Amino acid sequence: GGALTVGLLGCGVVGTEVVRLLREQADDLAARIGVPLHLGGVAVRRLDKPRPGVDPDLLTTDAVGLVTRDDIDIVVEVIGGIEPARGLVLAAMKAGKAVISANKALLAEDGETLFGAAREYGADLYYEASVAGAIPLLRPLRESLVGDHVHKVLGIVNGTTNYILDQMDTHGAGFTEALEEAQTLGYAEADPTADVEGFDAAAKAAILAQLAFHSPVRAADVHREGITEVSAADMASAQAMGCVVKLLAICERVPAADGNGRNGRGVSVRVYPAMIPRSHPLASVREAYNAVFVEAESAGRLMFYGAGAGGAPTASAVLGDLVAVARNKVNGTRGPAETTYAALPVLPMGET
Ligand code: HSE
Repeated sequence: GGALTVGLLGCGVVGTEVVRLLREQADDLAARIGVPLHLGGVAVRRLDKPRPGVDPDLLTTDAVGLVTRDDIDIVVEVIGGIEPARGLVLAAMKAGKAVISANKALLAEDGETLFGAAREYGADLYYEASVAGAIPLLRPLRESLVGDHVHKVLGIVNGTTNYILDQMDTHGAGFTEALEEAQTLGYAEADPTADVEGFDAAAKAAILAQLAFHSPVRAADVHREGITEVSAADMASAQAMGCVVKLLAICERVPAADGNGRNGRGVSVRVYPAMIPRSHPLASVREAYNAVFVEAESAGRLMFYGAGAGGAPTASAVLGDLVAVARNKVNGTRGPAETTYAALPVLPMGET
């Protein structure tokens, strides 16, 4: 067959890396897929910004035109935020395109609409890059562990706050100084409030809970507390107790009082700064790294660890999705379709 053509929405830290990898790995990708992957256009908000390594002829401000263009097979959305990303992703699926999204805010706010559209239009929807950057975590939950019964997902899913807390812990750095470093290193969100107030981790927790429990958990359901109130004094008292402060995301089934029912009484999903003993494996997660434990009935306890933020690691997850959906296109098949059939209540904090 012929080449498959990719339309890219957004060209920031992640998008630029995707463009670079598509070019530099073109031969390997073609060999793995069976046909070449070709970049057909890049939708941006502004044409006048310098974008080293991106062919200016590919740039357009007409994102709707790009996602509905006949020659585009796969749309990669790395814009972030709810709109215009949601409208574009829906238009792309309706036009028969496979969609890859790195957009945790969107998946966490309106996953059900997106999953519904994917089913209705028979489109692939992959979003590995939306949670924990390079770490393969969603595909294991969607595919490898889908035959198991997941009890709990727990870990560190925001690189920026882990970087800040780690700098405060090891160098006694101030909050503002550490945040600026995280921004310089390309870990932080465009608006770092999403990181430090825990919204980014809450969105990721919602996505993880959706997949782990097959239940439509949304970001707004997540009990959330950020790290802006964590002081040098808190750090010092944690240290005095042999502990370290980490921003944890915790998704778990809450068993019924009588222990009956496999699904439990509901789920608890929360994000907050917690003191953990230095001997705990999560205490050794440094800088912007992420680590997530998954506890499932038959699998037992699994640990996922690696680079959870940054342009190149996140682009690695996007490229993995690109190869997966391109292979599906070549084979005339589709990837896993999301099913949120369990509709478990998200329990209030006091009830868990
Ligand atoms: N701002 C996010 C983080 C980027 O710091 O983890 C990855 O989602």
